Amino acid sequence: MKAEETRSPSSPWRETIALVTGAASGIGHAVAALFKDEGMVVGALDRDPGEVPEGCVPLCADVREPEAVKTAIAAFAEPYGRLDVLVNNAGISFVGTVEDGTEEDWQRVIDINLCGQMRVLRASLPWLRKSVAASVVMMSSCSALNGLPQRALYSASKGAVEALSHAVAADLVREGIRVNSLSPGTVRTPFMERIIARAADPEAKRREFAQRQPTGKMVEPGEVARAALFLADPRNASLTGTTLAVDGGMGSLRLPRED
Ligand SMILES: NC(=O)c1ccc[n+]([C@@H]2O[C@H](COP(=O)([O-])OP(=O)(O)OC[C@H]3O[C@@H](n4cnc5c(N)ncnc54)[C@H](O)[C@@H]3O)[C@@H](O)[C@H]2O)c1
Repeated sequence: MKAEETRSPSSPWRETIALVTGAASGIGHAVAALFKDEGMVVGALDRDPGEVPEGCVPLCADVREPEAVKTAIAAFAEPYGRLDVLVNNAGISFVGTVEDGTEEDWQRVIDINLCGQMRVLRASLPWLRKSVAASVVMMSSCSALNGLPQRALYSASKGAVEALSHAVAADLVREGIRVNSLSPGTVRTPFMERIIARAADPEAKRREFAQRQPTGKMVEPGEVARAALFLADPRNASLTGTTLAVDGGMGSLRLPRED
């Protein structure tokens, strides 16, 4: 099915051309599905795009490979002559302290989580510059600013993404390109399910992850997707250079312990 066939003629998003990375699973899948349902034309990039939402345009590229990323993005954007929205979401987890992981592990996670977003952004910018109201959403994490145990490498990669997002927002503001980041708490996706499954007591780990948010529950991927839609909305023209937390209050609320 072509993406155009799914679009409602009355949708305010029907002229919007969006690219979502990491769109075959979890948050990226939810973002791509929501954007498509809202009427956008969605390019759904993943290293394994077999599971991207129906109605999106599957794009195969590993964000570690600059030429593959550039080719896939150009193939998607060229027929429309532009990109309006980029959700730079592909990423991987890593569990451990600063003493864990090999040199190669550290380079791999930084290569995917930080340099991957740089490569996608570089390849998208020529197309975003052709939009009248472009918006970029970078995927950070609550771990960037909240010290979480066993997340040294992952947190460092996300802290760098958040810093990159602010710097890029400054570089692009005069061109009318808005850049913001999302900082989700613990989201119920395959990424977290894999960490839960590896725990000695998976159900205890699941409860621990739910209780990490003051709301007492894990964040749903759809909640993060709706926040991405809000940041993408050109009517929010003054929203740039900011980070929106979707973290159940993890980063800002201090509740008394329930003993
Ligand atoms: N799940 C959480 O609790 C949580 C919290 C905060 C931030 N995040 C961030 O949200 C993003 C998505 O996480 P998720 O939980 O949906 O993960 P997920 O594992 O469910 O999905 C990640 C997707 O990214 C793709 N991907 C991974 N490496 C890639 C590469 N090198 N090239 C192309 N595609 C690649 C995978 O194939 C997969 O489809 C990540 O950046 C993650 O760091 C997740």
